[in-house]
Parts: sequence; C-alpha cells; structure tokens
Amino acid sequence: MNLYRDLLQPLLFSGLRADPETLKVALLRTLEWLDVTQATGILSLLERLFCYRDPCLEVRLWGLSFPNPLGLAAGLDKDGVALGVWPHLGFGFVEVGTVTPQPQPGNPKPRLFRLPQDRAALNCMGFNNQGAAALAERLRRLRQRLIPIGVNLGKGKTTPLEAAATDYLASFRVLRELGDYFVINVSSPNTPGLRSLQAAKHLEPILAALQEENQAKKPLLVKIAPDLDWPEIDAILELAQAYGLAGIIATNTTLRRDNLKTRFLPGLGPLTTAAGGISGAPLRERSTQIIRYIHQATGGQLPIIGVGGIFTLDDALEKLAAGASLLQVYTGWIYEGPSLVPRLLRGLAASRQGACSIPSGRKIVG
Ligand SMILES: Cc1cc2nc3c(=O)[nH]c(=O)nc-3n(C[C@H](O)[C@H](O)[C@H](O)COP(=O)(O)O)c2cc1C
Repeated sequence: MNLYRDLLQPLLFSGLRADPETLKVALLRTLEWLDVTQATGILSLLERLFCYRDPCLEVRLWGLSFPNPLGLAAGLDKDGVALGVWPHLGFGFVEVGTVTPQPQPGNPKPRLFRLPQDRAALNCMGFNNQGAAALAERLRRLRQRLIPIGVNLGKGKTTPLEAAATDYLASFRVLRELGDYFVINVSSPNTPGLRSLQAAKHLEPILAALQEENQAKKPLLVKIAPDLDWPEIDAILELAQAYGLAGIIATNTTLRRDNLKTRFLPGLGPLTTAAGGISGAPLRERSTQIIRYIHQATGGQLPIIGVGGIFTLDDALEKLAAGASLLQVYTGWIYEGPSLVPRLLRGLAASRQGACSIPSGRKIVG
C-alpha cells in the first residue's frame, strides 16, 4: 500500500478537487519551511523514507559527482526555495528555473491542469519566477551542496526575440559561479515565440554569447522540444559540436494533443484548442525516441538528460537504454509521490547487479 498514491493523491486530486497550482504552492511552502528551519527530525525521517544509496548508481559526468542518475526536472522549484531539501527526498541532482533576468508573474491563472485519465498535466505557466538575482541569493545562502544543481535559463516575456541572447547572458552573468551546469531553455511552449529560438540561426548567437562569457567552462546544455523533426534536431547537434555544448536535455512538454483520452477540461474547454504543453505519460515514447536518435547521431559522444513521462522502472530503463546518462522526473513524481524516487533507484540498482565494479544492492540509508 502506497500511502500517497493510494490515499492522499486520490483525496487531493479527486475528493477535494484541489487546484493543482494551489497544491504545488502549498508543497513548496512546506519544503521551504523545512529548508529554513532545517527541522532535523523531519529531514532525517525523509532521508530514511526516500533516500536510497548504492555506489552502483553513482554517475560522474562533466567533472561532477551525481549520487544517483535521477534528478528533479526544471519548473517545480523555479526559484530554488527548497534547495536544501531535495537531496533528503532522494534526488541525485536538481534543476532550478526556468529563471529570467527580471522577476515576472507568468500567465494568468488557471494555468496548470491535471489530466488523470492520461496520467498527464497541461501547463501554460509562462516562466513565473522571482528573477535571477533572487535565485542567486538563495544559491549563495545554501549551507551544504549535497547534490549537483543545474540552472535553467529563459527569456523574459517582453524581451523581443531578436534580443533573446541578452536575456540568457544577463541571467548567466548573475548565476554562472553558483550553478553546476546551465541549461538554455528554448523549448517552453508558454513564452510567445520561444521555441523558434531552436532554429540554428537564432540559437547560434545565444550559444556564442554564453560560451564567450563561460571562462570557467561550466557545462552548458540545450533543452529541446519533443515536437522538433529530425533535420531540426540535426541542426542543433551541429551547433552543439561547434560550440562545445556539454549535452542536450530531451525533452520539454509537447504541443501534440493526439493519443489523449481527455477531450475537455473544466474551466478551459476543448483540449485541442487549449494553449500549453502536455507532460507525463503521453510524452514518454516521443522523448525516448529523441534520446535514441541523438545518441545514435552523435555516436554516444554527447551526454543526454532524458526526461518525459517516467513513472515506472521500465520507463527509466528504457530511457537509459536509449542513451540517456541522467534522468529527470516531474509529472511522475506528482502522481506517484515521493516514494517514486527510492522505488526507481532500488530497481535500477537491482538491474545493475553484477555490472558494477563495487557490489550493488547494499542499501545505505541516512
Ligand atoms: C507545471 C510545469 C512547469 C514546468 N516548467 C518548466 C520550466 O520552467 N522550465 C523547463 O525547462 N521545463 C519546465 N517544465 C517541463 C519539465 O521540466 C519536463 O521537461 C516535462 O514536464 C517532461 O517531464 P515529465 O513528463 O516528467 O513531467 C515544466 C513542467 C510542468 C508540468
């Protein structure tokens, strides 16, 4: 019996019909309180429940050490308010952001919807965040860095597309010493025109500007949309090579609405005409296809962070087999609850039995 998945989640999602964004804010406030107070009793209880350590799961990449390959995807803790808590929930790394140079409120509410029949979500948040300086301050105040922290950068809503490089550069300058890796997010569907920055002619000046300022050679990645076609991905891979990118994050949410059981959302209308990106189970197959394509096209030379629709061990294994070096979850974690992390990690460790230089299966909790 999974307390969260079988009791709490149905109560919150269906029984009380709690608004998804209200729940998300409540979750983040609770985690922020935990972070500020460092309530040691609660943190060590979380560790005991949700941390699964096994040397077999460790990943070394870009000179960084990841205790396990499972990270929290961008968008949940955009402002890094719970940075000190994510390691206690078992994650091997966390990505904060998307952050823009200036604070911005995002799109009007409601802007986050559950699609329980599809094990999915629709969001049109629009980079609501407190801005790069506020995030920098939180990163500076962080007491202990237990896991690598990625910083996901975006363009402000009112910045013209031609000036996009200025925005990415402004946030990078404020944050470059404080993140372990950086992500150029050009794939959110909720900032008008942002996805057009994936086209080589728009992406190139952004990469050139950031790499010129990247004296410390921090790993720089691009996060791409699942709706690109193969030639568009090829063009990004060429740029990745030309500008020494550290990897690709595949993928962001999708604009596609096919294969969905949900047709209509209360308060929003028909799903086919609703703005926003779909995350969760409907994304799984396409994001894995893209990971496989990139892995093959680059001969496995370009690291990939695989994200999109991971709910089960098989989902995670499928993305690793396709060529991902690291994985991220968002929607699956909301549906399955925090026990998803140790469940996946235990399964991954078991699947590696015999393939590790250090014997696996040793569970070191806390
Ligand atoms: C509510 C919500 C907000 C998100 N915000 C961001 C964001 O700010 N930046 C970003 O790069 N991705 C964002 N994402 C996309 C996720 O990071 C992830 O790429 C996508 O949801 C697919 O993973 P999943 O199926 O595990 O959710 C968001 C996703 C959701 C559901």
